Amino acid sequence: MSDQSDQMESHFRPAGLTEKDAEDLRKLLQDRLYGLLDLTLVIKHAHWNVVGVGFIAVHEMLDEHLIAIRKMVDEVAERIATLGFVPNGLAGGLVEARDWDDYALGRASVDAHLAALNLVYTGVIDDHRKALSKAESLDPVTTDLFTQHLGPLELYQWFVRAHLANVDGVLVSADEEIEESAAAAAASSRS
Ligand SMILES: [Fe+2]
Repeated sequence: MSDQSDQMESHFRPAGLTEKDAEDLRKLLQDRLYGLLDLTLVIKHAHWNVVGVGFIAVHEMLDEHLIAIRKMVDEVAERIATLGFVPNGLAGGLVEARDWDDYALGRASVDAHLAALNLVYTGVIDDHRKALSKAESLDPVTTDLFTQHLGPLELYQWFVRAHLANVDGVLVSADEEIEESAAAAAASSRS
């Protein structure tokens, strides 16, 4: 991963934290900053491009997710600054560092967007859990931060999934791991 913080770090650290641990934490936090920033972009994109039955409920629900996730973005960035580094919140760094493709849908139905967003949430939550696991041996404060984020992220994924579940509790897009395929499966389930 490459970002501008390598060239712009400060010369202070929280007491009791080694340089090595601080740098390892910076990498973990910067990765999550990019992941959460991208999630905010995807959620707004879906907010603008969702159409059809159920539009207003999902349109408004996505803005509620966005408010909370933007707060997470701020908290992660400020933890990086607290560790004495420079958080990179710019699009160029995000695109260079990410290992995922742009969100696949444009204008699409409620079911299609939610099925795709379900996979987006799965990716973010999985990466957050991995970062949490690595942070546990380095820093209780960063560990706590990631833990505080996971609860709401999982809650919001449930909000998304509750639209996609049938009465047996099975997601209509359960077998799909690619956004386009999940969207198609969810959209066709209503037709
Ligand atoms: Fe809006």
